[in-house]
Amino acid sequence: MAVTEHGLDVMLPAFIEERMERFNQKRYKDTWGGRHLLHGAAPSASSIRLSSNDYLCLSSELSLLKSQAKAMINAPKQVLMSPVFHDENSATRTLERALARYMGTADGILCQSGWAANTGLMQAIASAHIPVYLDHMAHMSLWYGAQAVRAPVYSFRHNDAAHLEAQIHSKGPGIIAVDAIYSTNGDLCQLRDITTVARQTQSALVVDESHSLGVYGKGGATVTQTLGLEDSVHFITVSLAKAFAGRAGLIGCPNGVRDYFMMASYPTCFSSSLLDHELVWLEQALNFITASESRREHLRDMSKRVRQQLHGAGLPVSNIGEQIIALEAGDETQTMQLRDALESHDVYGSVFCSPATPLRHALIRFSMNSSISLEQAERIVKGALAAYSKVRGKQT
Ligand SMILES: Cc1ncc(COP(=O)(O)O)c(C=O)c1O
Repeated sequence: MAVTEHGLDVMLPAFIEERMERFNQKRYKDTWGGRHLLHGAAPSASSIRLSSNDYLCLSSELSLLKSQAKAMINAPKQVLMSPVFHDENSATRTLERALARYMGTADGILCQSGWAANTGLMQAIASAHIPVYLDHMAHMSLWYGAQAVRAPVYSFRHNDAAHLEAQIHSKGPGIIAVDAIYSTNGDLCQLRDITTVARQTQSALVVDESHSLGVYGKGGATVTQTLGLEDSVHFITVSLAKAFAGRAGLIGCPNGVRDYFMMASYPTCFSSSLLDHELVWLEQALNFITASESRREHLRDMSKRVRQQLHGAGLPVSNIGEQIIALEAGDETQTMQLRDALESHDVYGSVFCSPATPLRHALIRFSMNSSISLEQAERIVKGALAAYSKVRGKQT
């Protein structure tokens, strides 16, 4: 045991030390060369930062910040407890109903995060006897929730409804879960085909709309609403840490689910509820987002422009997709080279690697936002092209 500046440095048992050492040696030292793949150079004030999911730039919106600050200062003494104790007259319920109306679902349940919403929902509706079918690229929280109840989990090929259907025919109906917009590369779910399979096989359908609510359709409608599929989707889950720029999650569900969920979903039941000022933020964000059509249009235009120019120049970027754009470079070493090269052009994305992607398919994710100007969109394209040719040059 050593005495450090901050306190005692306690020795861990060998089985934990060995596990950490494997990561430190294999990935950090051998593959990454002693630098952290996720932590590159620090951006400056003029850098183009594409790492935040605050798609409509709400977090710097003064009117929202002021409302939240006022709520913090004026809040009656806050009661810190599990949301399981909130009754029908609570501020939480009022907001849940407003959010449900916005999403076009009969009811809504606020959760502590998108992770809590997905893991908690899967835990509450799946079981060891019910097969769960997950798109290969569905968010980790959906997998984790199904694994928590030891459900038999089958993955189907990304966006491949025929493969899903074949799996259900062999294993039986169950729960299907997909993302409406995939978080690593911005792919749009083939939701029409997926809902057809769910309906025909009488399976339950969960759609994670974290990257679509607030940005995708008219007024910020979800993909489900935009395609008119509200009657075929049983549960919609959302992280409100994206377009809503808050810290919460949400589940859109049929009437009659909420009371059961509150007692059956452990992440919700056994964790404290959102604070009053967080509810105020979300309520104000909802009003702001509903009226943000021009920001949405601009975001769409800039995203399409950057995506199509990168695709047209021959980069491995799909020409179809939404505001998330993925640049794949190959393995982690190549991804680090691409990250460094992009940063040298003052463009900062987020590196995604295992466990968020398969080991040899690390990528750099650009999350576009509504403040990106035409001039910045051009800088992004130029930077990405130059960075790619530098990395390719190194590889040949
Ligand atoms: C598709 C998707 N679902 C759920 C989550 C989890 O959301 P939160 O950050 O609110 O826990 C994320 C965030 O990474 C996400 O991208």
